[in-house]
Amino acid sequence: MRLGSRWHWPRSLFARLALIFCVGLALAQAVSFWVTMTERDEATVNLMTGYVEREVASSVALLDHLPPDERTRWLPRLARRTYQFILGPGEPGTPIDARLSERFARSITDGLARNYTVTTNAIAGSSEHFQAHLTLTDGTPLTIDFRPVSSIPLSRWLPLVLVLQFSLLIAFCWLVVRLATRPLKQLAQAADLLGPDLKGARVPETGPSEVVRAARAFNAMQDRIAMYTAERVQILAAISHDLQTPITRMRLRVDVMDDSDETEKLRQDLFEMENLVKEGVTYARSLHGASEAPCRVDLDALLDSLVCDYTDAGKDVALAEHVAIAIMARPRALRRVIGNLVDNALKFGGAATIEAAPTSDGGAIVWVRDDGPGIPEALLETVFEPFYRIETSRNRSTGGTGLGLAICRQLAQSMNAVLTLRNRNGGGLEAMLMLKGAG
Ligand SMILES: Nc1ncnc2c1ncn2[C@@H]1O[C@H](COP(=O)(O)OP(=O)(O)O)[C@@H](O)[C@H]1O
Ligand SMILES: [Mg+2]
Repeated sequence: MRLGSRWHWPRSLFARLALIFCVGLALAQAVSFWVTMTERDEATVNLMTGYVEREVASSVALLDHLPPDERTRWLPRLARRTYQFILGPGEPGTPIDARLSERFARSITDGLARNYTVTTNAIAGSSEHFQAHLTLTDGTPLTIDFRPVSSIPLSRWLPLVLVLQFSLLIAFCWLVVRLATRPLKQLAQAADLLGPDLKGARVPETGPSEVVRAARAFNAMQDRIAMYTAERVQILAAISHDLQTPITRMRLRVDVMDDSDETEKLRQDLFEMENLVKEGVTYARSLHGASEAPCRVDLDALLDSLVCDYTDAGKDVALAEHVAIAIMARPRALRRVIGNLVDNALKFGGAATIEAAPTSDGGAIVWVRDDGPGIPEALLETVFEPFYRIETSRNRSTGGTGLGLAICRQLAQSMNAVLTLRNRNGGGLEAMLMLKGAG
């Protein structure tokens, strides 16, 4: 089937189903209307031919018995909607070939055939029209002028009923299609909500049996995914826990070894291993959702203590200014996110500046800036992937696992916060953490 190039199949299932239903039902409706009308016309014609046969026969008999001078007076009284009598030979014409005229002509001829010889012929014109000619017993020619109609006129309220019918049809189509597509929409929404913390909304297991089945399957799948992830985190936690003991033992052994270049390298390797294990566990835990409950946090105090920890260790970290902001957040997760960002700023830029400002919705924004090399624009999102490290930072042997930013993103998401990176105009990187307000 080739449709015009301008016609497009609608994209949504809702529109498609609605269209199919409406067009299908409207077509069915049209067909049944047509059948009813045809049947009605047929029945009417059958009734009318019988009636015309008897009426014409008795009218002709009456005219035949009337004295010739009284006949003219009777003519208007004998005329009907479709025919009239004319005292005269009438008009000549062609043989009848129209279906309706044929049927009426035959019934008239049948009714008069016993007493008269009847000839019929069609009269040319815009509508069907024919005449039957006969001669009365006293020799007077008589013509029956006939204009057949096939149907009785339609009632005036019929279009109204049709409109009403069609409106009902559309209304029910809409209901049916909505009933069919709503569960799909709900499933899609639930799947969207299934975030990294795997605490997606459960789909209500109600409605028609097919929907209940799909909802159950979806919920069960959600549970299975949560279970597998939990298992994975447990395995990772168990391995790292068991790794920590041998690593500690190795470090003790290195400590009692002679101080040499090799010992120092070994110590460094062990340090990195320990880091990897720790970060791996943190990442797995953050994936599984923060267990920490949100509470009211004095952002100033949190940032102050964080900066103090760094300055005490001789690191160049500064807090831009003090703003009294209290927000709802998970303090340990928040500290960890900002800490990771500061670590990066120190590692790649040498120094870090932190700034915070309240937002109009009762939340806050925290910026962590440095004057380092920044990150190529194309990689600003990629660096959030676990274990991803830019080639240059690997070569610089800065140490690190590539999990820092991945952890930040996960924790930020679990706090409903948004973390983005951008390169500063004068060089260096700026990380922005947008913490939403309680409302
Ligand atoms: N402040 C920054 N300046 C320049 N590059 C950065 C900065 N922060 C992160 N990066 C880049 O993003 C990569 C990923 O960071 P991260 O996930 O913290 O891993 P890691 O710090 O362990 O390398 C880093 O390896 C580095 O290449
Ligand atoms: Mg890092």
